[in-house]
Amino acid sequence: MDQLVVTGGARLSGSVAVLGAKNAVLKHLVATLLAPGTHRIDNVPSILDVSLMCDVINHIGATCRFNGSTVEVDVPDELVPEAPIDLVRRMRASIIVLGALLARRGVARVALPGGDDFGSRPIDMHLDGLEAMGASFELVHGVLVGSAPNGLRGADVHLEFPSVGATENLLLAGVMARGSTTIGNAAREPEIQDLAEFLSRMGAQVRGAGTSTIEIDGVSSLEPAHHRAVPDRLEAGTYLVAAAMTGGEVTVTDCVPEHLRMELRKLGDAGSEYEVGKDWVTLRGPDRPRPVDFATLPYPGFHTDMHPQMVALLSLANGTSVITENIYAARFRYVGELNRLGADVQLEGQHVIIRGVSVLSGCPVDACDIRAGAALVLAGLRADGYTTVTEAQHIDRGYSDFAGKLRSLGAEIVRETV
Ligand code: UD1
Repeated sequence: MDQLVVTGGARLSGSVAVLGAKNAVLKHLVATLLAPGTHRIDNVPSILDVSLMCDVINHIGATCRFNGSTVEVDVPDELVPEAPIDLVRRMRASIIVLGALLARRGVARVALPGGDDFGSRPIDMHLDGLEAMGASFELVHGVLVGSAPNGLRGADVHLEFPSVGATENLLLAGVMARGSTTIGNAAREPEIQDLAEFLSRMGAQVRGAGTSTIEIDGVSSLEPAHHRAVPDRLEAGTYLVAAAMTGGEVTVTDCVPEHLRMELRKLGDAGSEYEVGKDWVTLRGPDRPRPVDFATLPYPGFHTDMHPQMVALLSLANGTSVITENIYAARFRYVGELNRLGADVQLEGQHVIIRGVSVLSGCPVDACDIRAGAALVLAGLRADGYTTVTEAQHIDRGYSDFAGKLRSLGAEIVRETV
């Protein structure tokens, strides 16, 4: 068990580069399963979730080789069409192999992911869409067994909600289905557009990714491809909040500012000043943030995965902010931890009411999940004394060398193995 010990007080300054998006690379790894041969993905972050997804696709028969921020994936002709419970439990995103395995093998056995810290996260939209494409499912001893003995066929699917995972599963299934598939009310996240670009490099025929209607013409086979992952807007956004939090000035490079439009707008409303270039953002934080209200929404709305970091910032505002969480029913475990640091955050259903305080005071807190862990480290940067964030492995799932990068910006933070 590792922990991060933060000594509050430093104003961050300098420049930090971000790598490829976790939520894109995980899907690229799965997409490789669609074509035998050697694929190459560049700009891959060195994070735990990428290793976990490599374990999943290795189990299925692929071989992942890392060289710095590049991963090469060898995919054999024959695949083992299953993701067992020990892997799915460690990473819920493993469910994304369903579409690819049904497309390649006509069968998929994937342990059913349970609930998690964000409340129950059903996969009904994934299954309804795949059923419309000719798959059928049964639950056998906790394992979801999908089969499409006659192959998948194109279908018109209209999602009830623009689910990121369901859109991706259907995209992966549709590129090799017989005929055309339309995904209506599709998620519009940049990572989906990036997955579609990778699939297009493999020879897939996809139009409209990044809009609410994705049209796919199925092809009978795909080729291995090279691709550079889209920059991680969540990693970039977290360092920008760190700058805002400490009243510092930080330039985040190798990012796509356009992908952070809503988050930057809210950081501006909270008193930060920023400038953007083609692939960089420089943000100067205020001495004390102003309160702001917002709601998390599917892209291009405010990203739910930036919500805890923003609450950490607003906990120090000179007034009351209200944030409404619309994506997850229970993304609030970090609230109790933040309050232990002296914040005044209260939950009213899906609303988070944050009454700004003038000081936070360091103590041991628990990093419940990736973004909660990051938010607590950011709070520690501004708290009096030491803040020890335990269970740092949660942070490792989504951030490569979080402590090292913050240290390079002047933060006092060390990692300890307990
Ligand atoms: C992905 C991201 C996650 C991000 C989320 C929303 C990855 C690996 N994870 O998760 O970091 O927070 O998008 O931007 O890319 N839902 C259903 N039924 C379904 C599918 C989803 O009810 O069939 C619900 C979920 O329970 C959740 C909401 O829809 O409350 C959003 O889920 P979804 O967009 O699918 O997120 P993920 O793909 O799981």
